[in-house]
Amino acid sequence: MDARDLVRSVKAVGTAQGLRSVRSAWRRQRADAAGLPRRGAERARVPGLAQSAEPQPGGGVVRFARSSLRVRVTAGGAVFCGWDDAEPEPSYALAGGCPDADVRAALEPDKDGGWRVVSERVTVVVSRHGMVEIRTPGGVVLRRDLPPRWWDPVSGAEGTGARWVQRFEVAADARFFGLGGRSSGPRLRDGSYRLWNTDPGGAFEPGDDPLYITMPVQMVVADAGTHLVFHDNPWDGRVRLREGEEGAGSGHDRPGSCELRFDGGPLRSWTVVGSPARALHGWAALTGAPAIPPSWALGHHHARWGFGSAEEVRRVVAGYRERGLPLSAVHLDIDHYRGHRIFTVDTERFPDLPGLARELRADGVRLVSIVDPAVKAESGNPVYDSGSAADVFVRDARGAEVRGEVWPGESVFPDFTDPRARKWWGDLYTERSAQGFSGFWHDMNEPVSFAAFGDPTLPRSARHALEGRGGDHREAHNVYGLEMARAGYDGLCELRPEERPFLFSRSGWAGMQRYGGSWSGDVCTGWPGLRASLALVLGLGLSGVPYSGPDVGGFSGSPSPELYVRWFQLGAWLPLFRTHSAISAGRREPWEFGPRALDHAREALRERERLRPYFVTLSHLAHRTGAPYARPVWWSSPGDRALRDCEDEFLLGNALLVAPVLERGATRRAVRLPRGRWYDTASGEAYDGPGQVLLDAPLSRIPVLARAGSVLPVMGEDGRVELEVWPPAPGRSGGGLVVVDAGDGWEHPPVERFVSRWEDDRVVVERAGGGEVGYPVRVRGRVG
Ligand code: GLC
Repeated sequence: MDARDLVRSVKAVGTAQGLRSVRSAWRRQRADAAGLPRRGAERARVPGLAQSAEPQPGGGVVRFARSSLRVRVTAGGAVFCGWDDAEPEPSYALAGGCPDADVRAALEPDKDGGWRVVSERVTVVVSRHGMVEIRTPGGVVLRRDLPPRWWDPVSGAEGTGARWVQRFEVAADARFFGLGGRSSGPRLRDGSYRLWNTDPGGAFEPGDDPLYITMPVQMVVADAGTHLVFHDNPWDGRVRLREGEEGAGSGHDRPGSCELRFDGGPLRSWTVVGSPARALHGWAALTGAPAIPPSWALGHHHARWGFGSAEEVRRVVAGYRERGLPLSAVHLDIDHYRGHRIFTVDTERFPDLPGLARELRADGVRLVSIVDPAVKAESGNPVYDSGSAADVFVRDARGAEVRGEVWPGESVFPDFTDPRARKWWGDLYTERSAQGFSGFWHDMNEPVSFAAFGDPTLPRSARHALEGRGGDHREAHNVYGLEMARAGYDGLCELRPEERPFLFSRSGWAGMQRYGGSWSGDVCTGWPGLRASLALVLGLGLSGVPYSGPDVGGFSGSPSPELYVRWFQLGAWLPLFRTHSAISAGRREPWEFGPRALDHAREALRERERLRPYFVTLSHLAHRTGAPYARPVWWSSPGDRALRDCEDEFLLGNALLVAPVLERGATRRAVRLPRGRWYDTASGEAYDGPGQVLLDAPLSRIPVLARAGSVLPVMGEDGRVELEVWPPAPGRSGGGLVVVDAGDGWEHPPVERFVSRWEDDRVVVERAGGGEVGYPVRVRGRVG
């Protein structure tokens, strides 16, 4: 460690803590020096030649000279490939275990000594050298996995598995998306992306990588088709992407390529072929349906690190009320805890939290609590004492509790890969519930242990239960936040069985959508941070996590009124709409930026409230289909290359196209339109896509367009849901889906379908399948 590191860590966490984080980093290093199996000599291995094959339901096993490959097509059409006898389970990602095999698919001999599995939606071809091709039923290659390579430890290095690398190729025109929450997306350009959940410390800028949520899942979009590929392995890894190049008709295209390197763990993958919607539907079928947030969580939230007291919370809530600004929730950060100890309350500053919660609730405002995993290691702290007694904290290779450094000081960490620890943890939410909290904000769960140098997390040698299999932090690290979310979610379901939990988490992994959503983390205040906010939300959506949003205004510093307004306008159209900032940062209340900014924020809030029924519909559709609320513009036209490269606008559901302003000083912006007719919702003017139009974007609003023919639910002025319809293009028809929330429980309200069409010179809306429309209908847009 050098002086610079020390200054940085002191700046980040304060002097005493900075010094303790030096000690903590030394401790981590020492633990790993003693406890981590040493990587001695290694021997490289490739599969060698295919020697035999054994058909099994859905595919079979091909045996090579030095490995084996299991191929299994499942009933839903997803393809599993597992090398070295890897099975689909155990897996932290899969929701209900391995889906059933497609019994109609079986391994059969292919030419040149290879093998293939033909199924309805996909053909898998295995060459005798171990190259695997994923092809469309028409025979077009969507992905070509080259034979993998392993580095096996030679004897004497027990406890370390093989490292491995696999490269795949895709079409020259293909684009890569996903890999969890990346600040530089949504299109993932050439570069290296690490798979190790990390708190970047301070506030991050676009390009900082990795961040809090990394996942080995990618969506690959090409002219020939879209597919999703997931490497089910939580170990540390690296993905190197290189987009392809087309040889301008010369026939010499350079394919796009992806190289995956993992430090250990199984080499197994899942592939889902189909449209973007199909791919994410298949992903949700594998890893679980996204949780539906309670409907109040689709309103506006106000958070801050550093609400000094209950009085300050009251002042902020009153500020919203007095100005007629809607507010759904207030979030309390670590400063409401006693000395930053989780599951406690600083009763001097918050003397009657349950009372405050009741008072806010009467005003329609919920309280949400931050929850960090680190437990202050001090006897007399009831959470520490009960956890120690139950033996649920992570231990080192010698059996001692692993100590790290987090907000409360020296801390220990629950082992969420232990079912007993999850149960113990879930029960702790009883205290939060009694304090009056309605929702939960999981933080610092990469997990973070401050370190003046090196990796700010637990030692890699730290031991974990891993559901009884046993292992170390190299395997458990990336699923730590996921399993913390599971613990919280299961605890809340038991505690308040009649309510859907509201939970969102900074870190996580494949499958985290089962328990809740996420947010951008500590995005740097500035125009680049605003852009990164959108990249993160879209990338997470394509990784299966549909509910997220940024810290509106950015986490650090003070945005200019213009930047604040633009951030607010973007946030209003994203699922989680929350202002938040660091303790050292400026205020984020809408009235802190002058009367003009307040008016514009009020307008964005008003529109958000008007669209609440639409957001509710999207939350239910995400649960049923896996489709994110906010989708890239190429969602329904992945073959449109210009759309594939368009990163500064998005579709909100099927009906709306949102074009936020991400540049300083802009008052107009170019908007790229997918095929079909689109109405500027501000002017009612119609434009025909595909193509690009220049639209006004004064500070008071961002361009939002509605797809011709759409029918969407909005809140009418009388507080009742009504249907807004945008006329279909002449001679066409349209429609939309509506799900009206039945409350915040587990009911599954029906999906109501409506169609729109022309009747003479009138637009009519009908309920699909007949019957009363049942809602007032309002036609918008200019026709003619
Ligand atoms: C982390 C979180 C941030 C929170 C802070 C204090 O930096 O990302 O949202 O305010 O911790 O708890």
